Amino acid sequence: MAGVPASVGELGPGDSLGAGLAAMLSGADRYFALDVVRFANVERNLKIFDELVELFRRREPIPGAEEMPGVSPKLDSYEFPRPILTEDQLARALADDRVRAIRQALAGHEEPAGPIRITYAAPWYEAGVVQSGAADMVFSQATLQHVDDLELAYRSLSAWLRPGGYTTHQINLSCHYTAGEWNGHWAYSDLAWKILRGGRSYLINRQPHSVHVALLERHGFRILLDQKRTRESGIARQRLAPRFRGLSDEDLTTEGCFVIAVKRGA
Ligand SMILES: C[S@@+](CC[C@H](N)C(=O)[O-])C[C@H]1O[C@@H](n2cnc3c(N)ncnc32)[C@H](O)[C@@H]1O
Repeated sequence: MAGVPASVGELGPGDSLGAGLAAMLSGADRYFALDVVRFANVERNLKIFDELVELFRRREPIPGAEEMPGVSPKLDSYEFPRPILTEDQLARALADDRVRAIRQALAGHEEPAGPIRITYAAPWYEAGVVQSGAADMVFSQATLQHVDDLELAYRSLSAWLRPGGYTTHQINLSCHYTAGEWNGHWAYSDLAWKILRGGRSYLINRQPHSVHVALLERHGFRILLDQKRTRESGIARQRLAPRFRGLSDEDLTTEGCFVIAVKRGA
C-alpha cells in the first residue's frame, strides 16, 4: 500500500510480535520475525493481535511515557499518525478479509491464498530465511546490544533489504544490571565477563556506539539519523578493561542510540 513498506522484518521481537503486527495492520503484507530464541507463543500473539485491531479501528493514540515509561525513542507526537495512515489507506489495511487473513497466518493455519505472509524464525541464522532483497524495512528494538555476532547481523540486514530499503534500530548500550555503574560492563576482563555470562544464550555484546555506526557504513548503509543519548561516564578511565581502554570519550559516554539508515544503491 502506498507509503507503507510492503515487506517488514524485525530482529529480536522477544515475547510479542506486536510491532510487526502493527506494521501489517498499517498495510504491510509480509512480516519476518527473526529471533535467537522462540519467546512468543501463538495464543498470546492472537490476543495481542485482536487488541491491536481494536486500537487501530478506534484510531487510538500511541501509548506514551505514562503507560510505557521505558520505551525509546521518544516521539514528538503520540497522536494516532493520521498524516501517514490516511483513512483510504486504513480502509484497505483494516478490511475484514485482510484482518482475517493476517490472523490466520499468525495462527499458523494453512497459507492464506493472498499476499499475506508471516515468518517467525528462531534461530534465524540459516541462509535464506529472508530472500535476498525481499524486505523494504527491517527494524529492531532493544536487540542489537544482545547480538553476539554483529558482523553477521549487519551483513544479513544488508542482504535482506532491497536497495533504498530502510533499517531502524533502538540500541541500549548500558550495562543491563551487570554492574553498579551504567557503563561498568566495560570494566570487566574477558575472563570475568565469560564467567558472568555463564550458560545464557545471550547477554550483551559490550560493543560501543561507534562499532554499530562503522558496521552500518561497511555494509552499505547511509545513516540518515543517529540520535544519541549521552551520560557522564560512571567509571574512571583507568578502570576500563584492557580491550576497552581505547574507547573514545564519545563512546564512553554514549548510553544508547536510535539510528535510521537507508541501503545504498537505489
Ligand atoms: C530485550 S529483548 C527485546 C525484545 C523486544 N524487541 C522489545 O523491545 O521488547 C532482546 C531480544 O533480542 C533477542 N536476541 C538476542 N540475541 C539475538 C540474535 N543474535 N539475533 C536476534 N535476536 C537476538 C532476544 O532473543 C530478545 O528477543
